Amino acid sequence: MTTEREKDSVTGTETTGHEWDGIRELDTPPPSWLMWIFYLSIVFAAVYVVLYPAIPLGGSYTKGVLGYSSREALDVSMAQLRKAQGQYLVQINAKSPAEILKDPQLRTFAVRGGLVAFGDNCAACHNLGGTGRHAYPSLADDVWLWGGKPADIYATLKYGIRSGHDKTRTSAMLPFGTGQKMTEPQTADVAEYVLSLTKRSKDAAAVTRGAALYGRQCASCHGKSGGGDQKQGAPALNDQIWLYGGTKAEIIAQIVRPKMGVMPAWVDRLKDETLKMLSVYVHALGGGK
Ligand code: HEC
Ligand code: HEC
Repeated sequence: MTTEREKDSVTGTETTGHEWDGIRELDTPPPSWLMWIFYLSIVFAAVYVVLYPAIPLGGSYTKGVLGYSSREALDVSMAQLRKAQGQYLVQINAKSPAEILKDPQLRTFAVRGGLVAFGDNCAACHNLGGTGRHAYPSLADDVWLWGGKPADIYATLKYGIRSGHDKTRTSAMLPFGTGQKMTEPQTADVAEYVLSLTKRSKDAAAVTRGAALYGRQCASCHGKSGGGDQKQGAPALNDQIWLYGGTKAEIIAQIVRPKMGVMPAWVDRLKDETLKMLSVYVHALGGGK
């Protein structure tokens, strides 16, 4: 290996003098634009160190002449945010869910807040988006057990359904269980009549027998033509929407040993503003009246 520097005959560039197996290394200088970026970044860094917090000094750091602090900046923007939110929350506290729904800005704010609270507190039972599942009603359709007006929803959330709270919504379908109030064939007849309300019965004689029983035993809660009664949380039986299933076997099961859904009361667990935002959110899912 030789170390003498000489010019390369092809490029005219000096070599570094390093040579391996006849291959010599050219000493090409870096392009000037690259060097300029290099010098400018040194200048930038020097200016930055003077202006902004930069060099750690044990427990502290150089503060920079501008006195900038990202933590303070965060505090300031959080305070601004809280103030803006606070204005909305004051209005939400002062208004009823129905009034909030009429104010487009407040409604948007409430729907966003309600969405978050719904995910935390309600989706476990009612599914994300309130679509419901077996024994947990959908909140996204326009079929309501207890009413779909903003005030109805708000009252349901506050005090729950059969929740044990003093002001809970409550009602009970008593067991007509075989032999108690109705015999087994009577139960089957009435179930056949319920099927006929959604045009699914093939046994006209049973429907006629069931209709009389229905009028005596069921109409007081579920309505003469099966339209339901929201004052008692009695579901309509003439739609295709079922809490506990709409097959004949499932209907008979409900008549014999009724299931009674429980929805917790939220008044002691969530702030009133959250309950209102949730009511607005549920109403805005699409089925609100
Ligand atoms: C532990 C399960 C559970 C949780 C959690 C729950 N719910 Fe419910 N919810 C129910 C059940 C069950 C019913 C139906 C009760 C019945 O059969 O009458 C219901 C009914 C409702 C109704 C009435 C629907 C109608 O058709 O009238 C609304 C509105 C409602 N829930 C909203 C909410 C909201 C909002 C939350 C969150 C704050 C929530 N629920 C949390 C179980 C729950
Ligand atoms: C005292 C009122 C009352 C009477 C009487 C009553 N029900 Fe019910 N029924 C209810 C209530 C309330 C529910 C809803 C239970 C719940 O929300 O968990 C219900 C639910 C049902 C369901 C379930 C609906 C679904 O969506 O899954 C069926 C089916 C039903 N009743 C049929 C009958 C039949 C048939 C009779 C008469 C033999 C009858 N009920 C009598 C109050 C009543």
